[in-house]
Formats: sequence, structure tokens, C-alpha cells
Amino acid sequence: MSVVVVGSANVDLVYRVQRIPAAGETVLATGSTSAPGGKGNNQVTAAARAGADASFVAAIGADAAGDRLVDSLVESGVSLHLRRTDAPTGTAIIAVDELGENAIVVDSGANGTLIDLTSTECAVIADARVLLLQLETPLETVAEAAAVARRAGTLVVLNAAPIRLLPRELLADTDVLIVNEHEAAHLAADLRDAGRVDADERALAATLGELGLAVIITLGARGAFVSVPEQGDAHVAGLSVDAVDTTGSGDTFCGALVAELERAGASSTDLATLVRCAEFATAAAALSVQRPGAVPSIPTLDEIQAFRSTL
Ligand code: RIB
Ligand code: NA
Repeated sequence: MSVVVVGSANVDLVYRVQRIPAAGETVLATGSTSAPGGKGNNQVTAAARAGADASFVAAIGADAAGDRLVDSLVESGVSLHLRRTDAPTGTAIIAVDELGENAIVVDSGANGTLIDLTSTECAVIADARVLLLQLETPLETVAEAAAVARRAGTLVVLNAAPIRLLPRELLADTDVLIVNEHEAAHLAADLRDAGRVDADERALAATLGELGLAVIITLGARGAFVSVPEQGDAHVAGLSVDAVDTTGSGDTFCGALVAELERAGASSTDLATLVRCAEFATAAAALSVQRPGAVPSIPTLDEIQAFRSTL
């Protein structure tokens, strides 16, 4: 029983700036670093550090950047099912401002070659208890992975980030949808009649819930909103911490949540279980925003438990 993530891996080039530049503008950074990142890599690392038996299906280049990602994943205890490709490892340019907010540009590189899942990759998905997906790899592969999981009875958790138009069959194969407020608004606008505006997270969750899936809307410092069709909804309180870099905090939330969901033995979507998992994930994300970088900021189970005991 385990967690599997099918998704992206990047090396992040992080520039600290006073403010994010506007179009046509040049700003000077106060410093820069590089660190392992990419939504899939961040999420699987978060799941493994949060105590899950976690596997990663991804494509990275046969280059030094790819070697660096492998080292980081191995160090976090992730089981690897990686394709090494001729295409270079994906990269992201990230500007982080003084409030810890960011702007990100991704060059997908090898991530774009992750198509046509092999029989081994399908078996890893079928054997897992939970599959966690995001949208930085080709959509056809995301949909294929979800379909394989659905047939095998593996729970499908989809983090619909970054914003893309989603194939309906992917949503039909999803059990739990995790989105931030912007992504929720985009998805809801795509699903509903033009002109109707969902005012708040409850209305957004209700619109998305019409698809019949559980919805978790992450609200940054305000916590998270959890909604399960026919069971109701609940707000998980935010934790007030000083953010230095929010890069990867959503990924940390997703990875920690599936680790806790797997531990709960959940094979279906129960509101009370999802709320408990979202509380755990909120604590993990609150720790990650207090440290710079994506992967370097992701907490371990010990750190999450120690932090929660102070709340
Ligand atoms: O979600 C954060 C991640 O988005 C970064 O690590 C970057 O690589 C981009 O994929
Ligand atoms: Na961080």
C-alpha cells in the first residue's frame, strides 16, 4: 500500500527580488540560488517526508540537472520510476518578492516527453492506494494515469495546477480535486454558464462539486475549504506564520495530504477523514513557507508532528 505521483520534475532557479517585475521592466535581484523543484517532484518529496511509501513516475534529462534531482529524491526516500531522456531536465525561473510571493516560468523539457505509460508504470499506479497528479506533464498522460488508477481501484487525487483546460474524462476519473482560489475560479468558470459569478469558496466548491468529486480549495494563510458531495463541507483554519517563500507550499500541502490519507487507509472520500488530512497538510505547508526554495523547504513527519504539538 503506497502513494504514487506521476508528474513533473524541474531544477528551479530562484531570484530574490524586492518586487516581481512588470512587463517591460528589469529589476535587480538581491541574490539567487538553484534547488530541486517541479510540482510532481515537490509533491512526491512531501509525501515521502511526511511518512508515505512514495513512488515517482517522471521524465528527466540524462544530464547533470537530472542527476541532481535523482540524488534529492533518493535522499528523501522516494522509489524511482524515472525515464532519462534526450530532452534536457525541466527548469523553472522563479522570482520571489519580499512578501514571499512568487512568479514562475517553466521550460518543460523532458517533462513534455512523458507520454504513453509503460506496463511497468501502469502496474505501479495499479498497485498503489493513492495516485497524486498535477498538470505540468502532457494532459493525455495525466488522463491515462487517472484511468489506469480508476480501473484498479486506486484513489485519484488531482491538483489542477497550473491552470489548464481539463478533459472531462480526467475529471470523471478524479476522486479528490485540490485547487487554489484562482484555479477554482477558472475551473468553475469553465464548467458553469457564462455570466454567473461564484462569490466565495463555498459557492466555488459547490460548482465544482456538481462533478460529483470531493473538492479541497487551498486558501493560503486562510487555511483550506473541504467539500464532499452529499456529506457537506468544512473550513480548516489557517496557521499564522511569517512567510519567506511560498514556492512549493501548495505542493507540500498536496503531498502531505495524500500521505495522511494513505495512513488513514482511506479508499473512499469521507469528509471527516479529508478534514483531518487537510489539517495535517496545512501544518506541513505552514512549515514550508517559512523556509526558502521548494524541495529544501519541505518538512519531515517529525517536524510536522513537533509543530502541530505547539498549536
Ligand atoms: O509549485 C512550485 C513549482 O512550480 C516550482 O518548484 C517550479 O518548478 C514549478 O514547477
Ligand atoms: Na518554501
